[in-house]
Amino acid sequence: MLYSFFHSIVISKYVMGFLPSMQRSGPSGYGASTTAEQVTVGFDLSARTYLVTGCNSGLGKETVRVLALRGARVLALARTLEKAKQVSERMPGNVVPICCELSEPRSIRAAIQEVKRLNVDLDAVIANAGIMALPTLEQKNGYELQFFVNHVGHFLLVTGLLEQLAADGRVVMLASAAHEMTYREGVQFDNLSGEKGYSPWKAYGQSKLCNLLFARHLATCLPVAGQSANAVHPGVIATSLMRNMNPLITVASRLVSPIFMKTVAQGAATQVFVASHPSLAGVNEKYFSDCNEKKSSRYGRDSALAATLWEKTHGIIEAFG
Ligand SMILES: NC(=O)c1ccc[n+]([C@@H]2O[C@H](COP(=O)([O-])OP(=O)(O)OC[C@H]3O[C@@H](n4cnc5c(N)ncnc54)[C@H](OP(=O)(O)O)[C@@H]3O)[C@@H](O)[C@H]2O)c1
Repeated sequence: MLYSFFHSIVISKYVMGFLPSMQRSGPSGYGASTTAEQVTVGFDLSARTYLVTGCNSGLGKETVRVLALRGARVLALARTLEKAKQVSERMPGNVVPICCELSEPRSIRAAIQEVKRLNVDLDAVIANAGIMALPTLEQKNGYELQFFVNHVGHFLLVTGLLEQLAADGRVVMLASAAHEMTYREGVQFDNLSGEKGYSPWKAYGQSKLCNLLFARHLATCLPVAGQSANAVHPGVIATSLMRNMNPLITVASRLVSPIFMKTVAQGAATQVFVASHPSLAGVNEKYFSDCNEKKSSRYGRDSALAATLWEKTHGIIEAFG
């Protein structure tokens, strides 16, 4: 318990937004306090289609809401069709519910087929769903669960949808500043099951590094020149993502969140910005935070590591047939 408390203080560097409302805007004209509605003011997205994973909660739900508010058709993916439907029924505009459980290759493949059946060009795929800091080792398909859901599941989904990506389509991967908290070797290729040792935060950090590295490598091998792949850190926002943290820390976080953390509306801004803003046409292989380009960690910029991860993950998904 004490360890957990002090560990949470250490990770506060990654967890606290440090007075988002006081921070200045960056070169884009936007900053930590900008909301998803603000980055899309005046946009008419009625000819556009976006796909968002993790549509039923937190940043994903707000992303769906704002894109739909601007007229877009949004393919809203959740772990069950019921959850996706609950979102689509309450949203403005054209929101299409789709089931996609990211720990289940069969469910992911069914979601890919469902999108293909709709016969639409995707203007952006926003890989938003995620889980964080599971207190004890959990596995699925022989792999540590955060690695599988956050990275492998999205790898399978996104690569399966590349034929549907528009000529200027964008892939937006939800990474995190927590990618810096990964294991010493970046990605523990010899311990992807977690059985040789498990740390809740390092495993989360590793999975978020994988999201970043996936975007980096995908950016170099997209089938059409105008397409792009970028990664984002949304900021720090009190959402259900904290459900696995110590309850005391969660309560404390929620108490201080109005001062130190972003609101959900602000948290969704960077992914909506990177997915839809005209100023980013052709911008590829970058990492964004607070709606501005940022430098990621040494590992986050490691193209060789990204290529190795790609090969390894390709092998993992091929094993599922
Ligand atoms: N909040 C932050 O401070 C923060 C900071 C940095 C990065 N991020 C990243 O931002 C993204 C969104 O997080 P959030 O804060 O909005 O969290 P959230 O409110 O917990 O939402 C996470 C979403 O992912 C879905 N999900 C979880 N496991 C899944 C699975 N196996 N298959 C399909 N969907 C699954 C959840 O569905 P259920 O509700 O059904 O479980 C939920 O819709 C995550 O990738 C997270 O790592 C967040």
